[in-house]
Formats: sequence, structure tokens, C-alpha cells
Amino acid sequence: MSEEGKPKIIEECKAKFEKRIQKATTAEDIEKLRIKYLGRKGEIRSLFGHIQEIPPEKRGEFGSHINELKTYMEQKIQSVSDQLENFSLDATTEKPYCDLTLPGVPFVMGHQHPISQIIDDLLDIFRSMNFDVVSGYEIEDTFHNFDALNIHQWHPSRNPQDTFYVDPEHILRTQTSAVQIRAMENGTLPLRIVSMGRCYRRDASDATHYPVFHQIEGLVIDKNVNFCDLSGILTEMMTGVFGTRVEVRFLPSYFPFVEPGAETFISCPFCGGKGCNVCGKAGEIELGGSGMVHPQVLRNVNIDPSIYRGFAFGWGIERIAMMKYQIDDIRLFYDNNIDFLEQF
Ligand code: PHE
Repeated sequence: MSEEGKPKIIEECKAKFEKRIQKATTAEDIEKLRIKYLGRKGEIRSLFGHIQEIPPEKRGEFGSHINELKTYMEQKIQSVSDQLENFSLDATTEKPYCDLTLPGVPFVMGHQHPISQIIDDLLDIFRSMNFDVVSGYEIEDTFHNFDALNIHQWHPSRNPQDTFYVDPEHILRTQTSAVQIRAMENGTLPLRIVSMGRCYRRDASDATHYPVFHQIEGLVIDKNVNFCDLSGILTEMMTGVFGTRVEVRFLPSYFPFVEPGAETFISCPFCGGKGCNVCGKAGEIELGGSGMVHPQVLRNVNIDPSIYRGFAFGWGIERIAMMKYQIDDIRLFYDNNIDFLEQF
């Protein structure tokens, strides 16, 4: 008899059971254990077999010790098998499982939209060149978006089929050039500003058009600025964005608010001008308009064109992003498809 008054044979049986159950790690182990101890030919049954050897007056006590151990084993087996089910290593089970040895699930970090990334890159580049960053209005009046920019009443871009009108005098701005006018009205001279933001045009959406898009607008007004300065600024800007030296080419073009005006190209940053799939074998990419501010525009905001002159440029940010990330459909920027966005 032990200290607790339990027969040694029962205590030994319990101790062995205890050892074994600690090693049980699968449902199969538990089932084996259950059969070994509680089964028809199990240890508990064989303990009862010993009852013959016990003096008759102690048999009742002996029997109740075995029953106690049996209940203990049943409960222990049940609780360990419950734990194993809940903390199963088998990931295929439908029950919730948790394997504390697995590496943690990494946090999915949100990040900026590719357009915002380009905008931030551009902001850094222009701040480093000492430009002020200004913002304008997305709902603009026709004076700032058209009239002051020398865009005549008959100009097709004013057509309601091209422009979203809020009322006859207000529109969703079609170009960030409206910010040029506001900057010249408000700013003290000389002026070095950039502005970035959304513009709207009533374009049917396709791979290269979307009714909303972003532009970056730059404007410098000073006493002695010229086309070479414009070329230098644009070269810096695009070299910064693409991380490789690019060259700028101007092709004469007409915008009512600049004279001379130009469509502006950069040498393809991917092939250096030789021609590749990104530039469609052209060796260069058209990115937007630029030119010297038209004297009439300066007069419209009370700046004397005989003292001051300036240059301006307005480029599409989607187009820059499409080139940088080699995306062939502008709509992808607006679909909010996580698989697409996660790549940046
Ligand atoms: N605002 C013009 C456009 O949207 C681009 C431009 C800006 C052209 C500044 C010349 C100077 O097409």
C-alpha cells in the first residue's frame, strides 16, 4: 500500500499511463492508449483481475480505487484528444488549428498607389530644384482654365462634349495649366512652381484614355529664362524619375498659351534611343506639352512681358507611370485590382 493508501499495482499503472499520455501527439496515439488502458482486454480490466488476490474486506476499497483511476484515465484521454483536435498539426482538418512552431503570418503592408509614388518622386525632384509646390482647384472657372490661357471662345476643347461643365462658368479642370494663372495672380515674381493633380476630360476610356487622369504642371517666370532652362529642367525631372540619363527633344506644336510651343519627347530610358518594345521601336517617348509662356497670358495676369518671361510644361503622370512600370493600359490604375496594385 502506498502513502495514500492506494495499492501499489494501481499506482504503477497510473504512473505508466501518465508517462505514455505525455508522449501522445496524434489522435492515433490516443486511440492506442485508450485501447491499451480502457479496452476490453486493457490494463483496467486486468487490475480488476487482481481483486481475487485481495483479502475480502479490502476488495470494496480496491475496486473503488480502480474505478477512480478508470474515470481519471477517461477524463484525461478526453481532454488530451480535445487539445490535439484543436491544436492539430494537420492543416487539412476543417477544425481550427494552431501550430505554434510555424513561422508567423507576415503582415500585409499597404503601400502607395503607383501614381502617388510617381507624384512623390516628382515632388522630391522639384523640391531639390527649389520649386514651390502649389495646388489648384479641381472645379475651376472657365476664366482660369480657358480665357486667361489664351484659349479662344471657339476652341474645341471648350465643347461640352470634351469638358465636364458644372455650370456655364465652372468645369472640372481639363488641365493643370489653370494653376499657372492662379500662381501668377497670387505669386510674387520671380516664380518657380510645380503643381500636380487630377484633371478631367470627357474621353471614352480605352487603353490610353480615361476621363480622369493626373498632370504635373511646371511654371517658371523670371527676367532671363529661356528654352535651354526648360530643356534642362525637363531633363533633370525625367532623369530623376527613370534613374537613368535621358535626353529631351522638342517638336514644334501649338498650344494657345505658349509661344513657341512644343510636344516634348524623351529618349527611351529603356533602350537609350535604339528602339525597343517599350518605346514601340521609336527610341523616344512623347510625354506632354511645353513652351515659353505666351506674352498675352502674361498680360492677362498683369505681368509685363517686356520685363518678364517664362516657360511652362504640362505632362501626364499616368503616361510617365505607364512608361516607368511598363503598363500598357491606363485603366489598370483605376480598377483597384489588388493583384495589380501589389506589384508596386
Ligand atoms: N496643358 C497642356 C495639355 O494639357 C499641356 C501644356 C502645358 C502645354 C504647359 C504647354 C505648356 O495638353
